[in-house]
Amino acid sequence: MARRKIVAGNWKMNMTPSEAVKLTEELNPLVASDDVDVVYCVPAIDITTVVEAVKGTKVAVGAQNLYFEDKGAYTGEIAAPMLVDAGVKYVIIGHSERREYFKEDDAMLNKKVKKALEAGLIPILCCGESLEQREMGVTMDWIRFQIKSDLVGVTAEQVASLVIAYEPIWAIGTGKTATTEQAQEVCKGIRECIAEMYDQATAEAVRIQYGGSVNGGNAAELFAQPDIDGGLVGGASLKADFGKIVNYK
Ligand code: 13P
Repeated sequence: MARRKIVAGNWKMNMTPSEAVKLTEELNPLVASDDVDVVYCVPAIDITTVVEAVKGTKVAVGAQNLYFEDKGAYTGEIAAPMLVDAGVKYVIIGHSERREYFKEDDAMLNKKVKKALEAGLIPILCCGESLEQREMGVTMDWIRFQIKSDLVGVTAEQVASLVIAYEPIWAIGTGKTATTEQAQEVCKGIRECIAEMYDQATAEAVRIQYGGSVNGGNAAELFAQPDIDGGLVGGASLKADFGKIVNYK
């Protein structure tokens, strides 16, 4: 069965709750699609208002992070059951900004992936190499290490339901998109890694996004690749261009 495309906007740390409502109302009519799953991954404080503002549309709301305990003395953190109760369906886990600035390591990300799945959230698990790693020729080794570490103890059935986002760090927010060939090559490599870890059916089911300077002009070519099932979009998800990305055909 053909995989359904999924385009997710990662709003990062942008949009106050009132700005978020305005943006959602602007984007909603532009992102209507029968073929593509659309997600707005919004700052935690915007979740309630955006969940309200997407009612009656097919857009799902995602979070950008979660903590791996259900409740307790973890000041400042947000638990999976809180996200679920607020109407969140997806959660970005292991974005390179969280890995780098907030020192999230693969052992922690593995706990977060398992907690999200246990709660019924769909993880958008991010991986990606630095420019230095690409130049050293270790891109695929690194990505395989990330995927294998982040999925320890996760079942085939769970993996089939999740989304993996390949985001080369050097392409994030730089306007420098990976070439279509580079993006396809790594997304294919991720699928092969899943096939080795699990089986072919699981590898065929998992959805793999490309992220890094995706825009209305390059989405069609990227998403036409056999192993690229959509995009995780930063800057362009805050503008009308996001509608072009969703309706890329
Ligand atoms: P840009 O689309 O702004 O390059 O960001 C990509 C990204 O990090 C999405 O998670």
